[in-house]
Amino acid sequence: MRDLDEHDITDAVLARMAGAPDPRLREVLGALIRHLHAFAREVELTPAEWERGIRFLTDTGHACVGDRQEFILLSDTLGLSILVDAMANRKPTGATASSVLGPFHRDGAPELAAGETIARQAQGTPAVVRGRVLDTAGQPIAGALLDVWQTNGNGLYETQDPDQPDMNLRGRFRTDAEGRYRFRTVEPVSYPIPHDGPVGSLLRSLDRHPFRPAHIHFIVAADGFDTLVTQVFSAGDPYLGSDAVFGVKDSLVAAFRRIDDPEIAARHRTSVPFGLLEYDFTLSGGGSG
Ligand code: BEZ
Ligand code: FE
Repeated sequence: MRDLDEHDITDAVLARMAGAPDPRLREVLGALIRHLHAFAREVELTPAEWERGIRFLTDTGHACVGDRQEFILLSDTLGLSILVDAMANRKPTGATASSVLGPFHRDGAPELAAGETIARQAQGTPAVVRGRVLDTAGQPIAGALLDVWQTNGNGLYETQDPDQPDMNLRGRFRTDAEGRYRFRTVEPVSYPIPHDGPVGSLLRSLDRHPFRPAHIHFIVAADGFDTLVTQVFSAGDPYLGSDAVFGVKDSLVAAFRRIDDPEIAARHRTSVPFGLLEYDFTLSGGGSG
């Protein structure tokens, strides 16, 4: 194959990898090449523009240092993460919707007793979060493990903020025999995803803001059921309709009900006023869907 031109280059590249032994790799990379070439043709990509694109991808790679994963931010802000998540998690009716994991989960959060607080250092309005974990038939799942994480009132995860103690606002809780879970925390706030790198520059050049609506992350796991990776969003947040990473689903929005009664607060080992969030999770799998 020589003298290739703009019309036959795509077929030539595909033919060159026709013998690749892994059929899935052939399929995925083949589609990528076809779509990349189609994209370049559609926009009539110039050498200067492609050089700029390569510079952007190079900068994105260089920004991946330590905990900072700029490629995840890129995938999230381009809507690719939530697309891949949606295709991998086509839930049966009634099962709780999934959402993006994001780059701030940590393994090994402390396992705490029901009702304990994840806020070892708290900023903001105290909150109590409680609910049940159910199967799609509505039966409680005992012993399910909820892995929970969120930002502090300053909008920063503990890993982004040297002033927060290790594992602040992270914890794991097991459901009781009735499938119930309960923990104390602070009400989450809306916050910007890291925007001091190449992805932030890209957002600015597209006239997009970097904010996510207030949310708490959950991974809910139970033997025999599909593990659920999701987030619960705070009702009324101004960014619900324009989440920088497209993660919001209406079924994942719930209100922190303001409680001013000191007796109720005392029962929850908190103070007034506090926000009460009640949210049930329904897991698929387990033979019921
Ligand atoms: C998060 O919610 O933690 C998050 C998700 C995607 C990108 C950045 C942050
Ligand atoms: Fe988050």
